[in-house]
Amino acid sequence: MDQSGRLVIWCTWILCNVVFTTSDWAADLDRTFNYSDALGKAVLFFEGQRSGKLPKTQRVKWRGDSALSDGSYENVNLVGGYYDAGDNVKFGWPMAFTVTLLSWTTVEYEKEIKSVMQLEHLRSSVRWGADFILRAHVSPTTLYTQVGDANGDHQCWERPEDMDTPRTLYKITPDSPGTEAAAEAAAALAAASIVFNHVNTNYSRKLLQHSKSLFEFADKFRGSYSASCPFYCSYSGYQDELLWAAAWLYKASRNMKYLGYVLSNQWWSQPTSEFSWDNKFVGAQTLLTKEFYKGKKNLSKFKNDVESFICKVMPDGGSSEILRTNGGLLFLRDSSNLQYASSSSMVLFMYSKLLKQADIHGIHCGSKYFSSSRIKTFAKSQVDYILGKNPLKMSYMVGFGNKYPLQLHHRASSIPSIKAHSTKVGCDDGRSSYFYSKDPNPNIHIGSIVGGPDLNDQFSDLRSDYSHSEPTTYMNAAFVGSVAALVA
Ligand SMILES: *[C@@H]1O[C@H](CO)[C@@H](O)[C@H](O)[C@H]1NC(C)=O
Ligand SMILES: *[C@@H]1O[C@H](CO)[C@@H](O)[C@H](O)[C@H]1NC(C)=O
Ligand SMILES: *[C@@H]1O[C@H](CO)[C@@H](O)[C@H](O)[C@H]1NC(C)=O
Repeated sequence: MDQSGRLVIWCTWILCNVVFTTSDWAADLDRTFNYSDALGKAVLFFEGQRSGKLPKTQRVKWRGDSALSDGSYENVNLVGGYYDAGDNVKFGWPMAFTVTLLSWTTVEYEKEIKSVMQLEHLRSSVRWGADFILRAHVSPTTLYTQVGDANGDHQCWERPEDMDTPRTLYKITPDSPGTEAAAEAAAALAAASIVFNHVNTNYSRKLLQHSKSLFEFADKFRGSYSASCPFYCSYSGYQDELLWAAAWLYKASRNMKYLGYVLSNQWWSQPTSEFSWDNKFVGAQTLLTKEFYKGKKNLSKFKNDVESFICKVMPDGGSSEILRTNGGLLFLRDSSNLQYASSSSMVLFMYSKLLKQADIHGIHCGSKYFSSSRIKTFAKSQVDYILGKNPLKMSYMVGFGNKYPLQLHHRASSIPSIKAHSTKVGCDDGRSSYFYSKDPNPNIHIGSIVGGPDLNDQFSDLRSDYSHSEPTTYMNAAFVGSVAALVA
């Protein structure tokens, strides 16, 4: 029984009432959510982000075909892939990270995901992104990394189905390299090749071939990726992507060449405090720690680094602990913060599972000790916060529970569907009639995780407030990776 329950015995009615009203949201500690439902919705989100020709199996019916001539400026076929967030740009670098995370989740929790009937849907979400990366990799040393002029796109508020902003193309080549983007694409395709290994051998083999080629391109022509800056600028350099890609290639191919690569470049690895579209060190460290426990004792640098991350994330883990809100949410940055909460909990779940598999009870953080189940419990608290166990008692996933964000910062969701309103909604029209509207979005983009509350656990649900009200593909992917650990 929890503390407030015990108070009932002696307190007066008025005091009890006060106790229960102020700590109500945290009082029912055993509250559980329907995680299968949350997983299904988080995966469904990706269908709403689809660009290109929609298949017959499309379940998000308010979306239609869009951007059917992407790539035509340079006579290449770049139809498909995902819109990044609430806008209509296809940013290849974060898109690839999304595919890597979705693939990692599928590989790690295949049985559990299958048991709640989501495996086919999750595989489709991987494939929709992986197919686009394959299409964008037009030669061994050419990768298209962005479709759409981000400034032009952001000036308008248009549905993807009738957008008329420039679909400018950006690519990396030996003359204008972008190691982060090429290496992340390599990581994504290697991870996806494992997903399809026993499902479609030819496809899996093709993914692995492209991955190897992209990795070579990334490593041989080293240069920091800046084409999507200022929207996506690399702050962490490209060493994290190179290690992450090599770790995935090792896992997918078991070729010792990639293990040699991570070993000879192990000093690139750093202890960090975030796992994000920019910084993937922790991901690589987690994959390589699994190999450490399987006997590759020379990978201990990676184990030490990821444990240092875990010590920063765990409450009372040490001096450089990450901030949490009073409601208990990890708080790294006041913009798309749920990305960090979700990606951190994804890593905690993965780590707790790998400790269990290795028969290791827990980890030390200075004088503190955290068992694998304690690590998992904390990770679960982040998922629960997002689904509704928070001071506002609201879910930060659209369409989950009975209180959730109504003004998602998302063009397609906030303008009536092309199926209901076939007349074109132009650039400024969209802005005046829908962006500034006080009404809830007409299309409920089920499963979208928004940027989330501020440091005071507050959330204003305003369409214009993109830092808190916009979804992104990699945020949803990290959430998929967290909630999948809780199903079955
Ligand atoms: C949980 O959600 C799934 C999917 O929506 C549904 O099939 C199932 O019945 C729900 N379980 C409970 C216990 O409500
Ligand atoms: C797989 O590839 C092989 C060799 O290229 C080909 O013969 C076979 O028909 C392919 N299988 C499928 C299912 O496409
Ligand atoms: C690292 O360890 C593995 C397996 O224990 C071994 O095969 C490999 O040669 C080692 N590499 C180096 C550089 O020591």
